[in-house]
Amino acid sequence: MKIILLGPPGAGKGTQAKFISERYFIPHISTGDIFRKNISEKTSLGVEAKKYLDEGKLVPDEITISMMKNRLAVDDCKKGFLLDGFPRTVTQAKALDLFLSNTGGRIDVALLIDVPKDLILNRITGRRVCPSCGASYHIKFNPPKVEGKCDVCHNDIVQRKDDTEATVKSRLDVYDKQTEPLIDYYEAQDVLSTVNGTGEIDQVFQNIKDVLKDIHK
Ligand code: AP5
Ligand code: MG
Repeated sequence: MKIILLGPPGAGKGTQAKFISERYFIPHISTGDIFRKNISEKTSLGVEAKKYLDEGKLVPDEITISMMKNRLAVDDCKKGFLLDGFPRTVTQAKALDLFLSNTGGRIDVALLIDVPKDLILNRITGRRVCPSCGASYHIKFNPPKVEGKCDVCHNDIVQRKDDTEATVKSRLDVYDKQTEPLIDYYEAQDVLSTVNGTGEIDQVFQNIKDVLKDIHK
């Protein structure tokens, strides 16, 4: 299955992607995670991307598309993939379509996790992540077993640098202007499915499975 996860920052894309990837045995590819890894390793891509992430702006299409073409060419994507945070502009969506059509493939479903804006700020400002393994938590809705420590590797969990209120505002603005048009784009291709993302984490995953069972036959 080739799945795209759409939704505003904080909608729960990363949280649900982990479950989907484990259940359907497809790699979870998050552009945000790839950029953050490059930033922590201080690669040239990371140095370039950092300026954009810190301000809540999109990394230019050229850089992002080229990075994703390399990632999608890796063997583990042959059986399908789950894209989290890509595409984020119509230009990126067209580049992805072209890339897939070269191998006779196409997207099976673009899953929109629908969450109203007033819930988003709480979700994002309460998020904590493990800098070592990338596991993600929420201080209230999904707390770790031991306060402040990652369940998986027991490191201290931290707040993402772009999870401040000011940067979240900029990210939401970018989403409205540059990413929301993708909803119409995938609707026109007849691959858009919208799931209610307001319930508890397990409930949202159930909503997603209900959609995917019709596609994964
Ligand atoms: P990215 O890392 O993709 O960030 P984002 O889209 O802003 O999304 P988030 O990761 O903030 O939210 P999420 O939907 O994954 O929510 P999560 O599951 O963590 O991108 C970061 C930056 O990288 C961008 O700003 C840009 O600069 C750059 N970038 C990335 N892709 C790019 C591209 N294609 N082109 C150009 N630039 C790009 O959940 C959030 C919190 O809520 C967590 O604490 C979680 O525990 C909690 N939660 C989740 N679900 C629920 C629930 N059902 N109930 C209660 N709490 C919940
Ligand atoms: Mg995420």
